[in-house]
Amino acid sequence: MGVASTVALRGSLLTQVDERLRSASERAAAAPDRLGQGAPEDAPTGADGERVFPGGAVPPAFGLPGQSVGTVSVFESADGSSVQSGYLDDDAVVQELTDAQLAALLDLTPDGEPTSVTLPGLGTYRAVSVVSDRGDTSVTAVPVSTITDTVDEFVVVEIAVAALGLVVAAVLATVLVRRELRPLDRVAATATRVSEMPLSRGEVDIPERVPARDTDPATEVGQVGAALNRMLGHVESALTARHESETQVRRFVADASHELRTPLASIRGYAELVQRLPADLPDDAVRAMGRVESEARRMTSLVEDMLLLARLDAGRDLDLGEVDLAALAVDAVADAHVAGRDHVWRLELPGAADDDPEEAEAEAEPVEVVGDEHRLRQVLVNLLSNARVHTPPGTTVVVSVALEGPAAVLRVRDDGPGIPEPLRSRLFERFARGDESRNRAAGSTGLGLAIVHAVVTAHGGTIDVDGTPGATTFTVTLPLATP
Ligand SMILES: Nc1ncnc2c1ncn2[C@@H]1O[C@H](COP(=O)(O)OP(=O)(O)O)[C@@H](O)[C@H]1O
Ligand SMILES: [Mg+2]
Repeated sequence: MGVASTVALRGSLLTQVDERLRSASERAAAAPDRLGQGAPEDAPTGADGERVFPGGAVPPAFGLPGQSVGTVSVFESADGSSVQSGYLDDDAVVQELTDAQLAALLDLTPDGEPTSVTLPGLGTYRAVSVVSDRGDTSVTAVPVSTITDTVDEFVVVEIAVAALGLVVAAVLATVLVRRELRPLDRVAATATRVSEMPLSRGEVDIPERVPARDTDPATEVGQVGAALNRMLGHVESALTARHESETQVRRFVADASHELRTPLASIRGYAELVQRLPADLPDDAVRAMGRVESEARRMTSLVEDMLLLARLDAGRDLDLGEVDLAALAVDAVADAHVAGRDHVWRLELPGAADDDPEEAEAEAEPVEVVGDEHRLRQVLVNLLSNARVHTPPGTTVVVSVALEGPAAVLRVRDDGPGIPEPLRSRLFERFARGDESRNRAAGSTGLGLAIVHAVVTAHGGTIDVDGTPGATTFTVTLPLATP
């Protein structure tokens, strides 16, 4: 807008100046005759018998009515013998033109059309050059500085107004956009609250919804709000369906394990019974019955483990109480002593220097955590049985209980062969076990560490393992009862 109006203004001013210039030029061209007529009687006459303008110093255009200040006039007689030039300055005093200025004006094509010309020292002019019937050249020029001044002023005003307009528009736009988009903030806030909800576990209920006033389908923001609500509803029902099917699977495993316990107990019982019969059984039959009994025993422990895991998965409440980890460790090591006579067992308790379990128990300070005693005992039993079963005879196993900051830390360390490399990344997964053939024979199920992990996690603790050969360490951290 600014450029267009500036160009238009400039064009129209130029047209006005050109019009002024034409009439000034006409007046100037007619001047010699009129002046000639008014010249004194004794003025000399030229070659053609006409009287020559007498003054010499004052060119004919000056002083003519209507000729404005700043108008430049040049008169050159047909034979080039006389050149008169000058202009009226701001004080209406006649000023001579310099040679350079004169040359610039006389260079113009005498076609009667206004052209722009730069006069050295005076600036830019619009000039018209005409040749009279007698052959005299008359050049008239008016300054364009008035145009430039006006246009410059106009541009300054325009810039100022435009800047002001931009500022006002920016402020208004900001205020309006903010106000219009406020509902979007509320939609975003809803999305943020949902993203902070724990959706990954257990029963999922998403009560958050975009408020009804922000779900008007007539506005774009309302459409976003309504779409988000639809999506939340969809996610909620999908998560609920998933949770239901998980629950079903879990219940099925739990029920199946439970149902298997009774027939397994019968199988074990009958196998024992057959072995105790006084009748002479062939050796093969006795051996077969022994296998039946031992496999039934193995299957029983597998079923028990699966049942326990299913219960832990279901988030069955722990039977919480204050548990002294130090006492648990003493018991567990004492049991391990009996079960693993080929291993060396050590116990490190806070405040107890002695390795002898009984004395250690007497000296040790209690390390109390809130937990389910039965389950925590199982953690220790599983870790110690691993240290016994998966290491060669003569391995030293160190069980330590310590207070570290706000937590109780239980460590089971052995100097056995370490955790097999391919197993490390999925050690706590179900049915993850090392050397399959050897372990199966040893009654390995691969559920022991999965149970340990589930129990520790249910207690709000963590379990870490460092499986370096020669220093395999399982570290269980549990929050203290009274930190
Ligand atoms: N202290 C340990 N030293 C070496 N290997 C171990 C140790 N503890 C566990 N492992 C490896 O981790 C596997 C998984 O252990 P676990 O979950 O208790 O199952 P399981 O004892 O029934 O095999 C074991 O099969 C064994 O290969
Ligand atoms: Mg085990």
